[in-house]
Amino acid sequence: MTDLATTYLGFELKSPLVASASPLSEEIDNLRQMEDAGAGAVILHSLFEEQIIKESEELHHGLSAGTESFAESLTYLPEVTQYKQVPDFGASSSVPDMTRYNRGPEGYLEYVRRAAESVSIPVIASLNATSPGGWVKHAQKIEEAGASALELNIYFLPTDPNVSGSEIEKTYCELVTQVKNTIRIPVAVKLGPYFSAMANFARELDKAGADALVLFNRFYQPDLDLENLEVVPTVNLSTSQELLLRLHWVAILYGHIRPDLAITGGVHTAEDVLKSMMAGARVAMMTSALLRNGIGHLDQVRKDLIRWMEEHEYESVRQMQGSLALRSVANPSAFERANYMRVLGSYRLHSFGPWRMGMTNGE
Ligand SMILES: Cc1cc2nc3c(=O)[nH]c(=O)nc-3n(C[C@H](O)[C@H](O)[C@H](O)COP(=O)(O)O)c2cc1C
Repeated sequence: MTDLATTYLGFELKSPLVASASPLSEEIDNLRQMEDAGAGAVILHSLFEEQIIKESEELHHGLSAGTESFAESLTYLPEVTQYKQVPDFGASSSVPDMTRYNRGPEGYLEYVRRAAESVSIPVIASLNATSPGGWVKHAQKIEEAGASALELNIYFLPTDPNVSGSEIEKTYCELVTQVKNTIRIPVAVKLGPYFSAMANFARELDKAGADALVLFNRFYQPDLDLENLEVVPTVNLSTSQELLLRLHWVAILYGHIRPDLAITGGVHTAEDVLKSMMAGARVAMMTSALLRNGIGHLDQVRKDLIRWMEEHEYESVRQMQGSLALRSVANPSAFERANYMRVLGSYRLHSFGPWRMGMTNGE
């Protein structure tokens, strides 16, 4: 019997497949389908720091300015998330209706409550944030609503040239410490890849109390419309190619820090999940693959996983976790700079050059 069980954030999960935060987790029925299709846990779509702040500002404004203007302020629609404004999700035909992406802070709590009652796998709520502050107290309400854990997605674009990398890292750690001091449920921290000393920063997040690191956020990258001279918001779904950056960093960090490691970004197939496990991840998360293929894709990946493990005589996922991490492999230089020169040197123009593809001389 092939054992897919893993542990994540202190929970025993029946499988390492996790549905990451997306509009798919906005419907209770989808959460049930994810559980049935083999998800070990689900992450809910995010509640945004901006929403919490806006709500409390409106409340304050309403209380101090009288009921008339409060009623007026209620009709104000916050321009909250980039996700909400995106018209184009790339190749997917099962694009969700983004106009209903978010329910606001109170609606979110109610949804966490219903979600936790509806499935028996851990329901991980998600806070999407940029800075420490009083709004963090909202994490407590999420805990009270019944979330098994909280994923803190720190999504900050440091565009100010006066702000240094170390200041930014300090802010991240302060935010994690604040949230950890506010709640008792485990906290996973979802990060982008753009830190100059990732291994050191991971250790600082460990010290700040993070129970897991989720690598990596895919940053929103606006495109430029040359005809209308406009900046165009886009969200494209990932491919397995994006997994490599995650594998690299999980393999490097494995065994060096206490928090569990999770991979998000580029997990589409059973092979991607197997690589994630061997690099050292406890769970492999999927969004793009589910948006593209539907929730049933989880079941296919689960079956493929079992088939591969049987064929290769693996009894359990635990057995393979970390087996190809930097500290486990016979040739650790494959993960390091030494290999960079070797790989560049191995590129053969005659096998990959554009003329092979008929791109020169109009051929
Ligand atoms: C349409 C869409 C909505 C998303 N919403 C959220 C969100 O609310 N919170 C969050 O932390 N990540 C969100 N993500 C990011 C995903 O959880 C995931 O980390 C990312 O898409 C990379 O994984 P993938 O390659 O499996 O898609 C969203 C992604 C997409 C495509």
